[in-house]
Amino acid sequence: MSESIFEMLERESMEWFNELLDAMNVGILMLDRNGIVRLVNKEYTNITGVQKEEIVGKYLPDVRPGAVAHKTLVDKQKRSNVIRQEGDKAYVADIAPIFIKGRLSGVVSVIKSVTEIYQLTKELQKSQEQFDQLKKTVDRLNRARYTFQDIIGEEPTFVKAKELAKRTAATNLNVLIQGESGTGKELFAHAIHNASARKHHPFIAVNCSAIPSSLLESELFGYEEGAFTDSKRGGKIGLFELADRGTIFLDEVGDMSYELQAKLLRVLQDGRIRKVGAVHEKQVDVRVIAATNKDLMQLIRKKRFREDLYYRLNGVNLYIPPLRKRKQDLPLLIRHIVKTYSDGILFDFSKGAMDYFFQYDWPGNIRELINVVHYAINMTDRHLITEQHLPDSIKKAPPLKQMAASATLKEVLDNTEREMITQALMRHGTDLAGKKKAAEQLGISLPTLYNKIRRLNIEPITSSSFS
Ligand SMILES: Nc1ncnc2c1ncn2[C@@H]1O[C@H](COP(=O)(O)OP(=O)(O)OP(=O)(O)O)[C@@H](O)[C@H]1O
Ligand SMILES: [Mg+2]
Repeated sequence: MSESIFEMLERESMEWFNELLDAMNVGILMLDRNGIVRLVNKEYTNITGVQKEEIVGKYLPDVRPGAVAHKTLVDKQKRSNVIRQEGDKAYVADIAPIFIKGRLSGVVSVIKSVTEIYQLTKELQKSQEQFDQLKKTVDRLNRARYTFQDIIGEEPTFVKAKELAKRTAATNLNVLIQGESGTGKELFAHAIHNASARKHHPFIAVNCSAIPSSLLESELFGYEEGAFTDSKRGGKIGLFELADRGTIFLDEVGDMSYELQAKLLRVLQDGRIRKVGAVHEKQVDVRVIAATNKDLMQLIRKKRFREDLYYRLNGVNLYIPPLRKRKQDLPLLIRHIVKTYSDGILFDFSKGAMDYFFQYDWPGNIRELINVVHYAINMTDRHLITEQHLPDSIKKAPPLKQMAASATLKEVLDNTEREMITQALMRHGTDLAGKKKAAEQLGISLPTLYNKIRRLNIEPITSSSFS
């Protein structure tokens, strides 16, 4: 029997209808008023993995335990954003009752896959956990090790420096620590951090002279993925970001390139960092302690250090005096060093050995003193250190005797004068007030001091360095 024209139209429109459903990029499931699945489209199969044959013509709760669409047959309620998750598939459904001529005649459920989002979320959660773990490790590794108790010294100018540092710790000011090599600048930076409100957050030390200037910027500020040809996937977090809420210690800040100084200044001004290659900036809360053994004023004059940066860093100016100006602390320091490094074994120092300690100038300051004490401890078999256990470097003849062998009397006198004037200027400073005090100390008039400075060619800068 051939189809009637009506049957053909009905069949054709049914086919049109199915094609239409299959072309849609949402999954569709329809139930009749008895909860029997009447149709599902292709995308429904794609999303749920359930084939048409497995489900069409069956009572929904029988084939899809946990389904909710049939509940709408009872309460006639629309349901939106119903999240369903089965195995590795996740989707959201919008469920609505179908009324024909006012009578409930079925339910339609429209679903969209969220598997990808779901998995991404899960991965993100995992990465977040790993990140938190790493952050804890980083924080633990970046702790400041020393406190003010570890800083030994009773000489008045040193005590003043320590007092200033303690007061500084209670503030949020940036600190510039100046002093010769080995005087304890890093030690002070640790102690300030540990006495500050930031002590539970990282203390990160960066040696600006040890890292090539081309790399320093990305070390400090990080970079975005793809910023350079060999940049790491996901980019890199900079030390400023790692130090967030803590302290960053910029050691040898005088060695930072002029160009990078400008970028550092911007960070200090508005507290925002921009990774290399990044569009956006990020707020960070970092206190900066900078240190240098260079004469920054001289570098500023030579246009190698930015004056504006100098004033930014210099919230507090902490000057650590060299050991030769606080030789009275030698016994205390030596005792401390012995105690720290010799597992509690005590050593005595002979008068002869101590004479050498007092007579030497200690250009390498406390670091050199530590080395010499170590050396001596290792050289003696007993618990007594005499001059024979000291390294030759500190036993060389005092400067005056050395000169006398090869110099004329005038040279020796000039050298002695030069040495004494320089010392006095270093102690009191090279401004007018300092020179007046220096002249007073030396027992000469101010004009005589000026004459001698000129005649002996005393570079004013050697003395202004740390005054
Ligand atoms: N007052 C002090 N009491 C005890 N130890 C000290 C003191 N000052 C310095 N030290 C010790 O001396 C060594 C050198 O100190 P530190 O590294 O802080 O010097 P620095 O000024 O940073 O030197 P550099 O300019 O060479 O980097 C460290 O081992 C430090 O612990
Ligand atoms: Mg240092």
